[in-house]
Amino acid sequence: MTSKVKLYSGTYKNYSDEIYKAIRSETFGEDIGQNSWLTADEYRNIFSLLGLTNKTRVLEIASGSGGPAVFMSKETGCHLTGLEYDRNGVDNSLKLAEENGLAESMEFIHGDASEKLPFDDGTFDAVVSIDAINHLKNRDKVLKEFFRVLKKGGRLIYTDPIVVTGILTNEEIAIRSSIGYFIFAPLGENERLLERAGFKDIRSDDATENMSSVSLKWFNAREKRKAELLKFEEEDNCNGLQKFFKMVHTLSFEKRLSRIMFNAVK
Ligand SMILES: C[S@@+](CC[C@H](N)C(=O)[O-])C[C@H]1O[C@@H](n2cnc3c(N)ncnc32)[C@H](O)[C@@H]1O
Repeated sequence: MTSKVKLYSGTYKNYSDEIYKAIRSETFGEDIGQNSWLTADEYRNIFSLLGLTNKTRVLEIASGSGGPAVFMSKETGCHLTGLEYDRNGVDNSLKLAEENGLAESMEFIHGDASEKLPFDDGTFDAVVSIDAINHLKNRDKVLKEFFRVLKKGGRLIYTDPIVVTGILTNEEIAIRSSIGYFIFAPLGENERLLERAGFKDIRSDDATENMSSVSLKWFNAREKRKAELLKFEEEDNCNGLQKFFKMVHTLSFEKRLSRIMFNAVK
């Protein structure tokens, strides 16, 4: 599906421009190159839940700019494979790995994570995916694929930022999903599908607060640089993104759409 408003390709293409760096630092505090609702401290907590060491093989689904992957690899020493659909994201990831001297321990593959994954059964100790599962078709099949490529005893952690926990209008849904293909999942559905895929020890934790605060800061950081941003973004797209960020904030602040972190074991 073609998105009406573009967020990902432009952000990855302009990753190193000063204005996008400034927006990231103001939005996230610690800029790890994220393009989601993730903060560096939240990711550190995920590293410890996954028990990452220099012996761990990690698959990151929808690795975005590659910034969070490089951060993970630097903090833990793990070996990481990133799979990402956006070519600008993959190109930027390869560049970042090279610049950080991590090309040996990291690989990035261009692909669609809603298709069969290009890895043998039982390849990875951990699978992680941040704020991206909502873009992948056929969640039941996607979770079965995560299960297949994990080693026995391996752990999966992902965040789903599109869990329906309140009433939404058609206009709110349209703006919230204006950046691409979206799945809106009712509360409890992820747990049901995880269990059906074979996972055990399934935990879910509410991580909506990050989405509420990050989206507001992102909106504000862009709004005050709007004149300069228009040198990089078409006006309609820039306005569309601002409407999107405002909507993310409203729906998460009012807890009508929640962001849940799932943690499960094969
Ligand atoms: C909200 S961003 C999160 C990126 C990264 N995880 C982060 O935290 O910065 C969602 C990502 O999902 C990617 N994506 C969307 N559909 C995909 C697909 N079918 N397969 C792989 N990646 C996909 C987008 O290109 C985008 O980079």
